[in-house]
Amino acid sequence: MNGTSGDLRNNIEKTLITADEIAARVGELGRMISGDYVSSVPVLAGVLKGCFIFMADLARSISIPVEVDFIAAASYGDSTRSSGVVRITKDIDMSITGRHVLIVEDIVDTGLTLDYLIRMLKTRNPLSVKVCALFDKPSGRKLDIKADYSGFLIPDRYVVGYGLDHDERYRNLPDACLLKEEH
Ligand code: PRP
Repeated sequence: MNGTSGDLRNNIEKTLITADEIAARVGELGRMISGDYVSSVPVLAGVLKGCFIFMADLARSISIPVEVDFIAAASYGDSTRSSGVVRITKDIDMSITGRHVLIVEDIVDTGLTLDYLIRMLKTRNPLSVKVCALFDKPSGRKLDIKADYSGFLIPDRYVVGYGLDHDERYRNLPDACLLKEEH
C-alpha cells in the first residue's frame, strides 16, 4: 500500500469547525440560495476536486430545482503556493447562456481561481455568475474578490477535511481541521 497507514487524524492539530457546525451553516446557505433563486433554475457549477462534499450537501439543502455540473481548474505552482496562472482541466458540460450560474467552491484563498473562472464563464453570456464558497481565507487574498455566499472565515493556516486536501489526503475527514505546523 502506498503511503503511511494509520489514523486519519494522526497529523491533525485540532478540529477547527465540526461536521455539525458545517452542516448547520450549509443548511443556512441552502435556504438563502433557495430564496434568492426562487423563480429560476440555477446551474450549480462545482469546482473540483475540493467541492465534492460541499456540493453534495449544499445541493441537498436547496429546496428549488437546480442543475449540477462540474469544472476543474489547476493553478501552476507547488502544492501550497499558487503561481497565479490558472488552467481549466475539465470544463462544464452544459451551456450556460441565458442561465443563472452559481459557482460552488470549497475555499477562496488568493482568489485567483475564482477570478479566472468568473471571467471565463461570463464570456458565455449567462444571466448571472455568483459564488458560494464554504471557507474564506481573507489573509491569503491577492485580488479584491469576495464570494456572494460565504460559510466560514478561516485563519491563515493549512485547513484540511470536508473536501480540502493536503497532497490529496484528508478530503474524507468530516470536520475542517488544522494540520500540525511541521507536517
Ligand atoms: C483549491 C480550492 C479552490 C482554489 C482556491 O483547489 O478548491 O479551487 O484552491 O485557491 P485560490 O483562491 O488561491 O485560487 P486546488 O487547486 O487545491 O485543487 P483541489 O480542489 O483539487 O484540491
